[in-house]
Amino acid sequence: MAKKSILCLGDIIGITGRYALKHYLNSIKAEHNIDFVIANGENSANGIGITRDTSSEIFNSGVDVITTGNHVWANKDVFALIPTEHKVLRPYNYPSQSPGLGYYIYEHLDTKIAVINLMGRTFMDPLDCPFQKADIAIKHIKERTNLIFIDFHAEATAEKQALAYYLDGQVSCVFGTHTHVQTADEKILISNHTSYITDVGMCGSYESIIGMKKEAAIARFVTKIPHRFEVETVCPMINGIVVEVDDQSGKSINIKRVNYTYPKDNA
Ligand SMILES: [Fe+2]
Ligand SMILES: [Fe+2]
Repeated sequence: MAKKSILCLGDIIGITGRYALKHYLNSIKAEHNIDFVIANGENSANGIGITRDTSSEIFNSGVDVITTGNHVWANKDVFALIPTEHKVLRPYNYPSQSPGLGYYIYEHLDTKIAVINLMGRTFMDPLDCPFQKADIAIKHIKERTNLIFIDFHAEATAEKQALAYYLDGQVSCVFGTHTHVQTADEKILISNHTSYITDVGMCGSYESIIGMKKEAAIARFVTKIPHRFEVETVCPMINGIVVEVDDQSGKSINIKRVNYTYPKDNA
């Protein structure tokens, strides 16, 4: 049985997340024998949106596929990027008129790895049903590979768990993004070996409020007056999961959380 190790990283928050990946991703990949990296880039451009430059930087750091979420359209540069860059995905349950792809099958050496990007609908925009869209994507993908990873960009814990159990045995892994806070519930579902975590967390500042400077976020809650958010740059952190899968059946063998904070870890 041959195994593949896939690293899935949480939302990359502005320059802080990009800096962390540029300087540390290669050593993390070596440490965990990583074959393939999926990262969410919806916040990579100054904390909101994605551009050609930020996506290039992330790919040059060693990421293979960038997923996104509700902030995908926030920077207009994305409209020149996403129609031609199949390694940047947008949630598949956006209207079909939206540019870009919601899933794709990537060739990696002798293996085909599919990535599907979906968005939740609880406390979020009312997009197409992510469950039905998952069924459609999986039907197409299954003819070519059993290795299927889903980034479910969603707010509600129950919606994320529901998608994982709905798809148990059909996909290798359902991992959550969007909240920017890593949950400690990583597991392999008992019946059919799909791995799952509610949220992988973020690549951004350890000393922040979901990646942003604390002051504006606190003021917003205290005063209820809008305050401009700014990306926090101190203490870059990388949150993610490493999933080991059987490269034939696509079943998960192991899932573990990985967390690095700089320079604290090196101090
Ligand atoms: Fe995000
Ligand atoms: Fe989001």
